[in-house]
Formats: sequence, C-alpha cells, structure tokens
Amino acid sequence: MRRSKIQTPTGMHDILPEDQKYYQKILDVCQKMADFYHFKRIETPILENLELFSRGVGLATDIVEKQMFTLRTKGGDYLALRPEGTAPIARAFIQHGFQNLPQPVKLWYFGPFFRYEHPQAGRFRQFWQAGFEVLGEKSPAIDAQIIQIFYNIFQELKAKNLVIEINSIGDSQCRPYYKKLLVNYLKSRAMVLCSNCRRRIKVNPLRVLDCKEEKCQRIIAGAPQIIDHLCQECKNHFKEVLEFLDELGLPYHLNPYLVRGLDYYTKTVFEIFEDSKEGKEIGALGGGGRYDNLIKFLGGKEVAGCGAAFGVERVIYLMKQRGARLKEPSLPKIFLAQLGRLAKRKALRLIEEFRKNKIPVSESLSRDSLKAQLKIADRLGARYALILGQQEALKEEIIIRDMETGKQKTVKLEKVIKEVQKLLKKLK
Ligand code: HAM
Repeated sequence: MRRSKIQTPTGMHDILPEDQKYYQKILDVCQKMADFYHFKRIETPILENLELFSRGVGLATDIVEKQMFTLRTKGGDYLALRPEGTAPIARAFIQHGFQNLPQPVKLWYFGPFFRYEHPQAGRFRQFWQAGFEVLGEKSPAIDAQIIQIFYNIFQELKAKNLVIEINSIGDSQCRPYYKKLLVNYLKSRAMVLCSNCRRRIKVNPLRVLDCKEEKCQRIIAGAPQIIDHLCQECKNHFKEVLEFLDELGLPYHLNPYLVRGLDYYTKTVFEIFEDSKEGKEIGALGGGGRYDNLIKFLGGKEVAGCGAAFGVERVIYLMKQRGARLKEPSLPKIFLAQLGRLAKRKALRLIEEFRKNKIPVSESLSRDSLKAQLKIADRLGARYALILGQQEALKEEIIIRDMETGKQKTVKLEKVIKEVQKLLKKLK
C-alpha cells in the first residue's frame, strides 16, 4: 500500500531558509520604526479564549462567523487560534493593568495569525502580521501618526504608488441612526442584492457597503453615506485627521464605502494599497482604525485606542516581484580543513575556540579529502584556510594558507587564534 505524502495544511506554508531574509528585513524595519516612535514590543499567545474574539471582533463578522480555527481543550475550554491582534492587545491591556502606566501605551507585535479563508493570491490560512497600537489617547493626531508609520514602513520596503483609503464610521452616538437609514434603504431593494447581502441587512448592514458583487455595487452607489450623518464630535475628529494628513503630505482618498470587517472600530478606518498590477492582485497591504469602545466592551475602563496591522506575506510578495536586493549574511573569512581522525578531533575543539573568540569559521567536517575541503573553502570565498593534517595534529601545529596568494605558514596550535586575529585585522 502506498502511503500518501503528508503536506502542510491548506493555505499554510513553511518559511524556508531562503525566505527568512524577507521576514528579517521587515522585522528590522518595524523595529526601527517602533524605536523611533517609542512603541514597545508585546507578543500575546497564539491561542486565546474564543470569547475574546466573539465579543471583541463581533459575532456577526466574517472572521468570527466563518474564519476562526477553534478547539475545545481536554478541560472543556473553548479556544481559538488568534485571527487578529487588536482584541488580544486590549485583553492584555486590561489583564496587566496598563491603565496605571503613563498614557498612551504604545505597543507593537509581529507574529502568525490564522483565518480559515479560501486561499488565493495574498490570502492564506496562516499569515504573519505586524501591528502597531496606541491605547489611552483620543487625539486625532494619533490616527494620522499611525497612518504615517505604516506609510513609512511600506516606503522603506520599497512599495510604490501607495494609496490610503480612509473613512469615518461614526460612533455609538451617530452610527445607530445611520444604520437605520441604511437598513431602510437596503430593505426596499433587497430583491436585487446578493443572498449574502440580504442576510447582512439583518446582522451587519454596514458590511453590505463593501460587497464586491456588481448587482450590489449598483445599489450601494445610491445608498446614504455615513459621512453625511456623523455627529459633531465624529465630524470634528475626522476633519482634524484629514487636516493632519494634509499637513504630513500623505496621499489619501475618501472612500465612503470603507467599513472594514471588524466590529470594534469607531470613527476613523483606513486601508493602504499599492496602486499597481501586483498591488491589485493581493489587496490591502494593511488596515486599521480607531477602536474607542473595545477595552470597555471587554470589561476594562473607558480607554480609547487606535492602530493598524499589515500582512507580511503581501509585502514580501511585492518585494519579490521587484527583485528586492537584501543583504545576505557575510560568509566567514576562515575555513578550517582537517585530515585524519586525530586532526578531526582537534578541529572540533578548535571550532569552539573560534566561537568563544567571536571569529566566524566554516568547515566541512563530513569531508575527509583535503582537496575537496579546499575546493569548498574556495567556493565559500574564504581568505584563509587553516589546515590541520595528520603531521600537524601530532606536533600540535596548524598551517595557515592564504587562499589568494597561495602562501602558507605553520604556527603552533595554541597561537592560531591570535595569528588569525592579526590577519583579519589587516584585512579591514
Ligand atoms: P485586517 O484588515 O483584518 O485588520 O488585517 C490587516 C492586514 O493583514 C490586511 O490588510 C492584510 O494585508 C493582512 N491579512 C489579513 N488576512 C490575511 C490573510 N488571510 N492572508 C494574508 N494576509 C492577510 C486586522 O487584523 C486588524 N487587527 C488591524 C488593526 C490593528 N486595527 C486596529 N489595530
């Protein structure tokens, strides 16, 4: 009987050694940005109580309705693989009493997230996000600064023609009335809408606004817009955010249909895209907004919040399409070759001496032929080959061979570290 090969689950991928450099580069850029804007790193568990997302993200959202990987533990707890990072950050804020810290609290994270989605370009079931969140500050300046941070990150990673789409979806003051208007409008046209939107009218009418079906789009085009029904506070807040974006020279488009797929948002919501063929293939690079009720909703005090996250694989896709040149780690200048059992034993010990002295060294301990080892040293671009032959091992000596000039000399084994340090210094 032939056994089938076991592969990664659908929509999940190994991050192979050759791809690590992209993740590292993105992590480095985020770290630099976090340091500049004073964000502290936080990592929350991959698994959380299911209720955190059903309450935080919203029962009637696609994420909670359809996309969560959930499980029941042997002890009977219901857990979910985290589909997003904001609700966990809000949970951590409450759990660790962060309201007692000087406000605002600025946090960032970088890790894997999970959504049971139909895999396609830029959409996976396990994907990485980098997120930045500011908790404990209501000012619209924060909304603008969050957008600026993401814009900076994408620019540093060489994304081009970035477009910011922005909208305000109001708050508990003004949104209920707008929802009523929208539902009335949609109800009288329900026959023309897709079945999903017909259902959404009841459970989450705002989501009808970002349906991509053509027949729904025609109805949406005539729908009342929330921007015309904001309360004074939301109107002022949005106006100020836009003024700050103007001041910063950030290019934005008002998109009255942008509502985002998570229920915790209040006031500002935004998404950033790359306006290019590749950008269109993968969708939004990142998105976020303000969530002034989330912490209270999860049982904490009234604490405002604003943040965003971006999809790491989507950015990597663009980097690869552009042939981004990333710095490869430099190869050691020293190669240690050995010949014979005794030499191999001494070589193993010598490698540890090099490590303790912080001198990178490569070797090919699995090879016995000197010729083969020197060939590898050449291929790796090593400047010096250290050759520990049978004779040398017996006499506690080692040959240092300059691979460029072919010159070589023999030194005492106990002196080799010092000799190599001198040679490396001259190369600088
Ligand atoms: P989101 O829009 O659901 O927001 O996700 C943010 C970004 O993660 C998306 O723009 C996209 O680049 C990436 N992403 C989402 N789903 C997938 C997927 N299945 N495969 C690959 N990439 C994906 C949030 O998650 C919010 N927590 C953002 C936020 C932070 N809002 C406030 N603070």
